[in-house]
Amino acid sequence: MSYAEPLQNAPAELEAEQAVTEYVRSQESKDQLRFLTCGSVDDGKSTLIGRLLFDTKLIFEDQLASLEKDSRKHGTVGEEIDLALLVDGLEAEREQGITIDVAYRFFATDKRKFIVADTPGHEQYTRNMATGASTADLAVLLVDARNGLMVQTRRHAFIASLLGIRHVVLAVNKIDLVDYSQERFDEIREEFEQFANGFDFETLVAIPMSARFGDNVTAPSQSMPWYSGPTLLGHLESVQIGEHEKDRPFRFPVQWVNRPNLDFRGYSGTIAGGRVSVGDEVIVAGPAKTSRVAKIISPAGDVESARAGEAVTITLEDEIDISRGDLLADPAARPDVADQMAAHLIWMSEDAMLPGRSYLLKIGAKTVNATVTEIKHKINVNTFEQIAGKSLDLNEIAFCNLSLAAPVAFDPYEANQHTGSFILIDRMTNQTVGAGLVWFALRRATNIHWQALEVDRKARASSLGQKPAVLWFTGLSGSGKSTIASLVEKKLHAEGRHTYLLDGDNIRHGLNRDLGFTDADRVENIRRVGEVSGLFADAGLLTLVSFISPFRSERRMARDLMEAGEFIEIFVDTPIEECKKRDPKGLYKKAEAGEIKNFTGIDSPYEAPSSPELHLHNIGRKPEDVADEVIDYLRNNGFLNSAD
Ligand code: ADX
Repeated sequence: MSYAEPLQNAPAELEAEQAVTEYVRSQESKDQLRFLTCGSVDDGKSTLIGRLLFDTKLIFEDQLASLEKDSRKHGTVGEEIDLALLVDGLEAEREQGITIDVAYRFFATDKRKFIVADTPGHEQYTRNMATGASTADLAVLLVDARNGLMVQTRRHAFIASLLGIRHVVLAVNKIDLVDYSQERFDEIREEFEQFANGFDFETLVAIPMSARFGDNVTAPSQSMPWYSGPTLLGHLESVQIGEHEKDRPFRFPVQWVNRPNLDFRGYSGTIAGGRVSVGDEVIVAGPAKTSRVAKIISPAGDVESARAGEAVTITLEDEIDISRGDLLADPAARPDVADQMAAHLIWMSEDAMLPGRSYLLKIGAKTVNATVTEIKHKINVNTFEQIAGKSLDLNEIAFCNLSLAAPVAFDPYEANQHTGSFILIDRMTNQTVGAGLVWFALRRATNIHWQALEVDRKARASSLGQKPAVLWFTGLSGSGKSTIASLVEKKLHAEGRHTYLLDGDNIRHGLNRDLGFTDADRVENIRRVGEVSGLFADAGLLTLVSFISPFRSERRMARDLMEAGEFIEIFVDTPIEECKKRDPKGLYKKAEAGEIKNFTGIDSPYEAPSSPELHLHNIGRKPEDVADEVIDYLRNNGFLNSAD
């Protein structure tokens, strides 16, 4: 981590950076405050942080020289030094004049040391704000005195509150540009106080300031005799931050099982709550097995005890089966173990969140498949109104129910922000797309157990004398899926195979008659038919599915429901021009005339399979021949041998 990235490549700067790191280390015994700054573009965040760094004298002479040079090149403040340049690290950012990533900076006074997360102000970077906020004690919300509160100010306050930040500073910046007006300041302060009324902030301090000229940042302002409150730095130095973390129950997500040889088995990770000592009883959440702590090994060697925030390896007195992702906990204050939960979700992706879609959920060191089963309500960040919604767009916040593929151990966020928060990851792109804060575990499924049946899928398949499989036909409307699927079924039937064909149009008359063609409805459509085809395969049938199924993500979900090797994705590839020409139901014509909305290939996407088991080119060929290609595939791949 560096506090002045623009200069970080020069060797002299690396030395300077080391000097800072050492300095920060030497300050280790001092009380520490982590805070984050957030505001809209141009509110002057970078200038404010630059001012704090500058005034606390943590800038070296050579950096200053370079800064003056840079200010002349990029600066927006004439001949003066542009303090924002000290902070706006990345070159690209400087060229664009915006901040685009979370950067952590250190500075210290003789009272405290500070770690500040500088988070970007652009709308789409809520993600970074949440990242920066998750470890912060205090949030500085910046507003431009001329503009007052913005939607973003409210959103940031809301996220800060959700993330458990209890201390807030409203920095009313650029007060010089409204003639140091007390009236304007009071107006903004009152509006914010009213807005923040419902939040659980312990302290909320509004400070009028000019980061550019230094008023009320580190020194009191001469220009605002009417203001008698603290300066920003004065407040940051003195605000009391609770030490609650280490008084919480012990939590230790196992990041890694360290087993160099047969004689040693240690569990490594960072303590996420409370403290632990040699001899303490601990429990593995889930299987609920208990043991005692035999050793605690820290980077500096064996220790008697350790507490939240420390990275250690723990060994236990008993050999119990613990793997990566398990949670060790205090047996007297156990975490929840459940496969359903209610949580606040902050969406961070340009691609909407669709209930029913499968995401990876990472909580602690554990990753499981998960879906949002229901959006209870979305939240209007301006008014806190609860609004109904079927999907979540970028930056939206909702209260949701989630269902996980397996039970995991967690706490409500209020009890522990590490074991109570998770991220959702897109399974196709591997990107973080959402952040969640657990509200509570849902118990409703815990009374329902999987019923073991006497007759299993193998028995059913063998009495039918065949191997079950799902032949999943995907392609545009009019590509010929149903025609080919139907011919394939006919051929299989003629050979005495037991089959069933699930066809989009037909299923939409019954089981899925409540669904339309929005992205959210299509996801649900495929989720249901995926489950149903799984049941048919379980019944031993050769199951043919003919749905557009335009999204990779849901085809993948359907695949994952089947046994390995039983899912055959068949891409019926017909160019859209050809489909339009065929237009068997006249739907393309209507869609192009705007009479049908969300039509696949027209104003709704089709994501072609990248590696289907079978890629059928269906233009200029007889459907019979194409169907034979499918039968050949089945025969060549052992699907038409009889079951053993
Ligand atoms: S899917 O996208 O959810 O998989 P599905 O296969 O069930 O679609 O249904 C597609 C059929 O519905 C098409 O073959 C067509 O006959 C009809 N249809 C009606 N409206 C639309 C639309 N907006 N987009 C695609 N197909 C539509």
